[in-house]
Amino acid sequence: MANLEELMSLPTDTPQDGYDLVVVANRLPVDVSLDDDGAPSWTRSPGGLVTALAPVMAKADGAWVGWGGSPGLELDPFDVDGTQLVPVTLTSDDVERYYEGFSNDTLWPLYHDVIAPPTFHRQWWDAYQRVNRRFAEAAARDASPGATVWVHDYQLQLVPAYLRELRPDLRIGYFHHIPFPPLEIFAQLPWRRQVVEGLLGADLLGFQRAGDAANFVRVVRRVTDLTTRGQTITVDEGTDAQRVVRAAAFPISIDSRAFDALARTPEVQERAREIRRELGDPEHLLLGVDRLDYTKGIRHRIKAYGELLEDGRLSPTDTVLVQVASPSRENVGAYQQLRDEVELLVGRINGDHGQVGHTPVQYLHQSFPMEEMAALYLAADVMLVTALRDGMNLVAKEYVAARSDDRGALVLSEFTGAADELSGAVLVNPHDIDGMKDRIVAAVHLDARESRKRMRQLRRRVLSHDVAAWSDEFLAALTAMPGSSRG
Ligand code: G6P
Repeated sequence: MANLEELMSLPTDTPQDGYDLVVVANRLPVDVSLDDDGAPSWTRSPGGLVTALAPVMAKADGAWVGWGGSPGLELDPFDVDGTQLVPVTLTSDDVERYYEGFSNDTLWPLYHDVIAPPTFHRQWWDAYQRVNRRFAEAAARDASPGATVWVHDYQLQLVPAYLRELRPDLRIGYFHHIPFPPLEIFAQLPWRRQVVEGLLGADLLGFQRAGDAANFVRVVRRVTDLTTRGQTITVDEGTDAQRVVRAAAFPISIDSRAFDALARTPEVQERAREIRRELGDPEHLLLGVDRLDYTKGIRHRIKAYGELLEDGRLSPTDTVLVQVASPSRENVGAYQQLRDEVELLVGRINGDHGQVGHTPVQYLHQSFPMEEMAALYLAADVMLVTALRDGMNLVAKEYVAARSDDRGALVLSEFTGAADELSGAVLVNPHDIDGMKDRIVAAVHLDARESRKRMRQLRRRVLSHDVAAWSDEFLAALTAMPGSSRG
């Protein structure tokens, strides 16, 4: 943990006329908190978005507008690794209504196939609008004339239109990190038209999969009178002026080379061996790594594993499942309920199949640094990514990037964006428990040649399509957008 005061004393080099690239995301790439003695300190924030964008920003001379992760925290902008971080304050009421409420109890379940029922509250919607406006105002202050502003994810879907209203000179991109649902589900949202109009403030809308972009265009046709043609939507801008918006797929990735290099370090390699030793040198080590979220299919995965032990198809003494479930959105009811269910299930399996000194499910409700994650990936024979719905799933890509030994097998849900790209994985439907059990057993017993062939194929894809390629492609496509024209 670095001390924030030290960081804030670094020269911040704020240009008079603002930054040429401004990222706007709900979270800053660091979580800022106050220690017991009141001193601020920071840690890297959770989740795929930060993992993806941190290396992009490290290269650009830009600013990042976002929330520091604690309610009521008021901080001046500060510099981390050459990026100007611009904190937006969220009061505890904002956190409750905009973040936990509208973002994570309305939009999140709605956009993930209503796996959990979405809650619609008008006060949450009011907070969502208010906070989106605050983010837009901060970005409008920090962007240089004609700058590029890149808005991220479902928490900030109104920012593109608010920002265009404040700063029509800007080039505005938006990337949606999670699935965009089919019309039939999106149409439940009482504020569907306002959300679509918010997004259409952007010049370019990026989605993880072609299917997500197509869902969006179909929603536009249904909830507005605008004309669409293929990936483009023509928006009227007052008297005679028109603007073209494009909605297309830009599948996100990770800093594959950095991850590959990290996993090759002697420290990580040694730690991977140590992990296996500490687990009693099992014959088969299975691994799950997720935020503790109901979209990730953690219950389905553990249930399938428990049944495999029960059926005797996997031996409880030779097999270990390590499940890292990092704490997430702990004030939202559906997450609390999931935690109870997962922990009950883990307790049952360990109770039924464990022995003194041997626990078939090693459950870790914690977050770990990248080095430890890389060591876990290297130690695991089979990686289980069994999400019920996931925009992309970067854990699947991290596992592949870590396996420079060309070993290991990836079991991957069909319902992740990654499944569109990662041929070489063993694909599963996590709702089909029997099918998933068969696939897990097949992955455990994959012969060495077949597994090497598959891992090489996976690595070719993950190493060539990294996060730098993703952001370059998105930003180049954004630059190519024509802007407004008189019709
Ligand atoms: C997903 C979302 C991100 C979010 C992350 C962590 O990856 O796409 O926008 O930041 O989860 O969730 P949290 O609510 O902790 O920010």
